[in-house]
Amino acid sequence: MAGEERSVKVKIDNVKRIFNTRNGEMIALNGVSLDIMENEFICVVGPSGCGKSTLLNIIAGLLEPSSGKVYCDGKEVKGTGTERGVVFQQYALFPWMTVKKNVMFGLELKGIKGREAEDIAMKYIKMVQLEDFVNHYPKELSGGMKQRVAIARAYAVNPSILLMDEPFGALDAQTRTQLQTELLETWEKERKTCFFITHDVEEAIILAQKVIIMSARPGRIKEIVDINIPYPRTQETKMTPEFLDLKNHIWGQVYQEYLEVRK
Ligand SMILES: Nc1ncnc2c1ncn2[C@@H]1O[C@H](COP(=O)(O)OP(=O)(O)O)[C@@H](O)[C@H]1O
Ligand SMILES: [Mg+2]
Repeated sequence: MAGEERSVKVKIDNVKRIFNTRNGEMIALNGVSLDIMENEFICVVGPSGCGKSTLLNIIAGLLEPSSGKVYCDGKEVKGTGTERGVVFQQYALFPWMTVKKNVMFGLELKGIKGREAEDIAMKYIKMVQLEDFVNHYPKELSGGMKQRVAIARAYAVNPSILLMDEPFGALDAQTRTQLQTELLETWEKERKTCFFITHDVEEAIILAQKVIIMSARPGRIKEIVDINIPYPRTQETKMTPEFLDLKNHIWGQVYQEYLEVRK
């Protein structure tokens, strides 16, 4: 956007993460540096085990880096915080709470209570089109609906950044496509900064402004691909030549890393 200054939302500075395993030390991430800009939608792809979740958990403050640092809005990340909303593949809803209570939960942690919390929760429940299910319990919902609740809950606390770890990975193809479309529409409206992990190259390209390709373990950033396809994007976008070219390129790069893993 011409003339608009965009600031760095999250700065990842030379992050390394080692795990101690039965077979000794294992380097899961090495030398990872990345600036996530305000309003940006970034997708991360790479072979299984390359450290995608480890990186997300470090940004979320659920894991510490072995060396290197992460900053969010200029402050060093030390533990979790409501300015970083997380959505996991497994819905992580409280089974004993209704949809509305689940969405209100994070608001109450932030000290927003009563009518105000309810109004905010309802806004985001409407955004994910679950207004007819506010008083339902998670067990009464489909997988796609549960994941919509998790997304509403993450949005409701108005975080600076949404961290999403394969949020649609457990859904069937049709539901997945539908949630991609909904997330796209929401992002196009709100431009909330998103850091989204997926192993689905098509999903990465349809959503992101930038796709980060990670190498096989130890996870490093192999390539950053700009996705210069204008928004609004729809499922038809997946049929365009520019989309298919990007898909071929990114898939080729990821495939090389799959071969590395199998060596
Ligand atoms: N808590 C842990 N302890 C030991 N090893 C771990 C732990 N978490 C992840 N790993 C290992 O680190 C590597 C990266 O894992 P992960 O970040 O989950 O990869 P991805 O999300 O890309 O599939 C894998 O080899 C995994 O087994
Ligand atoms: Mg993972």
